[in-house]
Amino acid sequence: MTFATLSERVRAHLGQSHRYAHTVRVARCADVLAQRHRLDGRAARTAGMLHDVARLYSAERLIAECEARAMSIDAFERAHPIVLHARLGAAIARESFGIRDAAVLSAIEKHTLGAAAMQPLDCVLYLADGLEPKRNFAEREALWELAQRDLAAATAALLRATVAWMTDKGMEVAPQTLAAIHGLSREVWVSAS
Ligand SMILES: [Fe+2]
Ligand SMILES: [Fe+2]
Repeated sequence: MTFATLSERVRAHLGQSHRYAHTVRVARCADVLAQRHRLDGRAARTAGMLHDVARLYSAERLIAECEARAMSIDAFERAHPIVLHARLGAAIARESFGIRDAAVLSAIEKHTLGAAAMQPLDCVLYLADGLEPKRNFAEREALWELAQRDLAAATAALLRATVAWMTDKGMEVAPQTLAAIHGLSREVWVSAS
C-alpha cells in the first residue's frame, strides 16, 4: 500500500478532520525525528499515520473490542479505557491495514502510556505525538530541541513533564509510565551528530 493510500484509508477510518490533521502532523514529526536519528523514516511515518486509529472509539467500544480479541486489560486500563486506544490501535493496524513491522506495531502500542522497555521508534512516536506543533505547553520547544539530539533523554523528559502535569491535576499515573521513566533513565544511546 502506498503512503497516500494509507493516509486516505486512515482519514476515512477516523472520520474526523481534527483528529486526521493531528495524525498528519504526528506522521511528519515522526519522519523528521527518524531521519535525524538515522532510523526508518517510512516506518516512523506509518506509525504516526496509524497511532490514533482507535482514538475516537467510546470507552465501551474500546473495552468490547479488546475483549473480543482476548486482549488483557489491567486495572489502570479498566479505570481509564481511553488509554486502550493505543494497544487496540496496534491490533487494528495489523488486522485492517496489513502492518507486519513489529517496530511500528510496538510504537503504536506504547504511544500513550510508554512502557518499561522503549526502543528508538517507540520514542520517536511518543515524542512526535507529544510535541507536534499544535501541542501547546511551555516546555514543548525545548523538548523538541532535545529530541533532535537525544531520543531517550527527550522521551524521559516528556514522560516526566506528563507525570508532573497529571499529578498536579490529581490524575492517576499509569504504572507503565513510571516504568518507562525508570527504564529510559538507564539508557545511553548514541545521539545523531
Ligand atoms: Fe493517542
Ligand atoms: Fe495522538
